[in-house]
Formats: sequence, structure tokens, C-alpha cells
Amino acid sequence: MQPIYPDHPRDFLDTQDWSRPALDALLARAAAFKRERLGDALRGKTIALVFFNPSLRTRTSFEVGAFQLGGHAVVLAPGKDAWPIAFDYGMVMDGDAEEHIVEVARVLSRYVDLIGVRAFPKFQDWSVDRQDVVLRGFAKHATVPVINLETIVHPCQELAHLLALCERFGDTHAADPVQALRGKKYVLTWTYHPKPLNTAVANSALTIATRYGMDVTLLCPTPEYLLDERYVQRARDNVAAHGGSLSISHDPQQAYAGADIVYAKSWGAIPYFGRWEQEKPNRDAHRHFIVDEAKMALTNGGVFSHCLPLRRNVKATDGVMDSPACIAIEEAGNRLHVQKAVMEALVRRGIENRE
Ligand code: CP
Repeated sequence: MQPIYPDHPRDFLDTQDWSRPALDALLARAAAFKRERLGDALRGKTIALVFFNPSLRTRTSFEVGAFQLGGHAVVLAPGKDAWPIAFDYGMVMDGDAEEHIVEVARVLSRYVDLIGVRAFPKFQDWSVDRQDVVLRGFAKHATVPVINLETIVHPCQELAHLLALCERFGDTHAADPVQALRGKKYVLTWTYHPKPLNTAVANSALTIATRYGMDVTLLCPTPEYLLDERYVQRARDNVAAHGGSLSISHDPQQAYAGADIVYAKSWGAIPYFGRWEQEKPNRDAHRHFIVDEAKMALTNGGVFSHCLPLRRNVKATDGVMDSPACIAIEEAGNRLHVQKAVMEALVRRGIENRE
């Protein structure tokens, strides 16, 4: 019997574009794929994985996932093993780029059934980065579904995180496995890192935790580290629509108190984009935001997770990473299963639309 997916967009760019029933269906299928890894949902199908930035988990899990479902993945790194690409319109292409996104997306669409894109911000001007032009360019010009492999949000990570939380707090066989997450105290904490990092996973964590009715605290050193207002407002809208709550804290003791879930990520302060030398003293002054045993002891026996990669004893201590509370490896493992569900859903929609 073919799996049923509620109606959903052609692309998987941002979980906020997908309805709750459609996301719930992805989680249910991911849990099924975790029990039975092999299938033929992608038999004869191909996916191009376009990486503008490095990856361990995303690349491996998509390649393996496509293989396990009978499909094939082609990995491309523009500017390295593929031609550099231009994304501006009406430009005179006399710089480094050898071809334009219009041709790249159209040509790839003739070869493959799905396109995945990873394109991090350039970290110079957030007003430019927040337009997500690389991903949007692929989505605009491709004639096959496009999957966000992390740009300014990381929707595949969100699903893997959510599945790991369901597994820890609920029952993935239950009719509504995410019900157990409702009302949990969820702390999204900034952590120190020597470099300014992408806000994508933090934007995503805020999105998905509020979408699923949790009581969310965004913990960051100062107001300068607040996430883009687009995602803070989205979180407020999610609270209004789905229940739960959103609060902002700059006090680790208060934020960790009674937490059920601690999710950590480091990110660069948006007002300092392009002026990172000026941000660095501020960031360096908050090394104590590291997730350690003393902070976790304040929680309600809470779990800890992180998207990985993680610098040990910078973002979180060895003691936290090696504790039973840490579900980061389960979350990373779940990337394989949730992405198989995403690929299956997108390919099936294409088939159903032709039928
Ligand atoms: N979490 C994550 O996306 O890992 P990679 O950067 O290794 O793909």
C-alpha cells in the first residue's frame, strides 16, 4: 500500500510552509523507515545534492538514504567540482561565475527528480543573506522539487530533532506521537564558539518548538543576539496558533531551571554582520554559556541536544556530551529516516500529480 501524505508544497524549503498534518505524516513515515530501512520509493529516481558548504551528516545521510530506497544521489560542489554559479539577474557575467542559476536549475531538472541545496549566508550583510537567494533561485527555476539542506533555516534537522524528542518523551507508534511534547519547557540556548556561525539551526529550533506547542525560552547573552525578527514573530504566531509560550532570557540560571529540553547552538549577532572583529569581545565575554553539568543539574532531568558538529568543552562539556541526557547522536541518526520520508513525499507528489 502506498503511504498517504496530506497535500503539501512541491518543495521542502521551510517547515513553516508545510501543514501540521503533513509534518506529522513525515514523522510517522520516518519512524517506519527507522524500523524498516530498505524500500523502493526512489527506485530509478535520482537526487542532485548541491553543496556550497561542507557537510558530514547531511551529505552522508542523503546519499545513504537515496541508496536504501533504490535511488541514486549525485553530489556537486559549485566552484570546486562544478562550475561557479551566478544568482543575480541582468548582470554582466564577467566575474568568476561560469553559468547562471537559470540554466543550472533547468539543466539539473532534466537529469534528476529532486534537487537538494546547501548554501550558508555570506556573513557580510544579513539584509542580503536573509533573502536566501541561492535556495530561492533553485526553487524558482527548477522544475523538480527542491529540498533545503541548510541555508537560513535547516528543516531536515528540525524533523530529526522532533523525532528524537518524540522518541524520548513519547511513543512513535502512538496516534499522535508529538502530543507528549506539548507544554514541555524547551530552552534554546546560545553557546560560545570562536567564530560567528549561521543562525539557521536556531531559527529552525525556534520554529519547530513553537509549532509543536512547547514552552520555549530563547536564551542568549544580550539583546544583540536575538534572532531575526522574522523568526521571533513567527514563533509568536505559532504560540498564538498552537499554544505553548515564548520567553526571552539572558540569564542561564533562570532559563535552565526546570527545563525538559536544552537545545544548544552558537550563532553570530545579526547587528554585527560584516563587523565581526567588533562582535568578538562580546562573544568572548560569554564563554560561560557553555552547556555544562552544573547547568543541566538545574533542569527537570532534561535532555540535551545539538545539531552537530560540536566543539567539545567549548559549546558543551564532555560530561554533558557523554551523559545519558544527550540525544545528539540519536538526532543525527534520525536525519537518515526523516530525509527518506521527505524524498518519498516529494517524489510521490510528483507521481500523483501526473496520474
Ligand atoms: N547537522 C548538520 O547538518 O551536519 P552537517 O553540517 O555535517 O551536514
